[in-house]
Amino acid sequence: MVGSIAVDAEYSKEIEKARRDLRHLIFSKRCPALLLRLAWHDAGTYDAKTNTGGPNGTIRHEQEISHSANDGLTIAVDLLEGIKAKHPKISYADLYQLAGVVAVEVTGGPTIDFVPGREDSTNCTEDGRLPDAKQGVTHIKDVFYRMGLSDKDIVALSGGHTLGSAHPERSGFEGAWTKDPTKFDNTFFVELLQGNSELLQLPTDKALLEDPEFRRYVELYAKDEDAFFSDYAASHKKLSELGFKP
Ligand code: HEM
Repeated sequence: MVGSIAVDAEYSKEIEKARRDLRHLIFSKRCPALLLRLAWHDAGTYDAKTNTGGPNGTIRHEQEISHSANDGLTIAVDLLEGIKAKHPKISYADLYQLAGVVAVEVTGGPTIDFVPGREDSTNCTEDGRLPDAKQGVTHIKDVFYRMGLSDKDIVALSGGHTLGSAHPERSGFEGAWTKDPTKFDNTFFVELLQGNSELLQLPTDKALLEDPEFRRYVELYAKDEDAFFSDYAASHKKLSELGFKP
């Protein structure tokens, strides 16, 4: 469960100020992709059955940031410390999810509804809850169904790979998924279908073409960016609120 904290007018005001500071941080440090990955990795530990994990800020603790799936994310945690210091009232859990939402917006993606009030926790999850990029359809479904998410959520959220790139020293993979990794658009799906060998495709990305239910959404999002944006915004909101009841 992600606990909730009281959100009063003052807290909401701080959230709006932090939103501005995040826009500036992302612009000056060119870090939208890293912040989106941080938000997703804090939330993606959720287990619906035991109601543990989720967007509760635990990723900043040594026990969780040291999981191999989180390699490189200490940089994101550190980048956000300055904003936390300016707005100490805001929980880390809210700050990380707000950073993910702002990262998508400032790179040209859809507006995502953000509801504050997540409480910070120190209950780190055990290693192994985030997906392994070397695996396939069954693994992806296991991991995302555990969070309570659907096939449609899986494909829409995978479109987050429209931003950023992989780093050999972090994940062992290299390169970007799209030709303009600073822009949030539907080209992840276009390139995936075209199988452009100059761009990165993780085994888990390719798996989206193998399963007929996944593929249906890949084809839809490649030809209809509006459909992708609207589904992405809904799935991202779900991800950012796993286990959280405002
Ligand atoms: C099956 C699910 C997923 C797998 C296996 C996966 C795996 C990976 C891997 C291996 C990297 C490269 C990390 C590095 O070397 O820096 C990466 C990067 C990234 N992932 Fe995912 N990912 C998944 C889902 C998602 C989702 C749901 C989102 C967001 C909605 C996301 C957003 C990103 C972003 C933005 C980056 C680029 C980070 C950067 O440029 O530093 N990923 N992912």
